[in-house]
Amino acid sequence: MSEAVIIQLLAELTPSQRALVEAATAATRSAYAPYSRFHVGATLLFADGSQHSGANFENVSYGLSLCAETVAIASASAAGRLKDVVAIAIAAEGELAAAVTGEFIAPCGRCRQVLAEAVSVCGHDIAVLMLSRDGLRVRSTTARALLPLAFGL
Ligand code: THU
Repeated sequence: MSEAVIIQLLAELTPSQRALVEAATAATRSAYAPYSRFHVGATLLFADGSQHSGANFENVSYGLSLCAETVAIASASAAGRLKDVVAIAIAAEGELAAAVTGEFIAPCGRCRQVLAEAVSVCGHDIAVLMLSRDGLRVRSTTARALLPLAFGL
């Protein structure tokens, strides 16, 4: 079954969605990305309206680098807050060409499995808001839609 594609301008978002994507954009400034120079920010929204951000944390070995979504989810879990997550927004700034990253900053496969684990902890699906490379539009989906038939869950 194919999902409907939802793409909106920032002005079409709810105030809370807009605040979330703005926080993810701000979180790109906390990235440690000296190797790719691709700065990714991910911000979680909790049921009470509060937020928690993460950014990518790279490693000289390249393959050990941690994505922004994984950093945000793992640190929210460490803070005992994961079960209240309702949405995640993802944004990026940097040198990788849009032709490489795609138009919208979509979670990598590993992050999708990490999101699937978060869904399992929460007991409900998590909205996923992906900013466009130009920062003008948002494509919306959900964690479950991003990883059908997730391993083990
Ligand atoms: N990256 C993320 O943080 N999230 C994604 O969804 C895709 C990729 C990071 C990993 C690496 O530090 C850099 O972007 C380039 O791939």
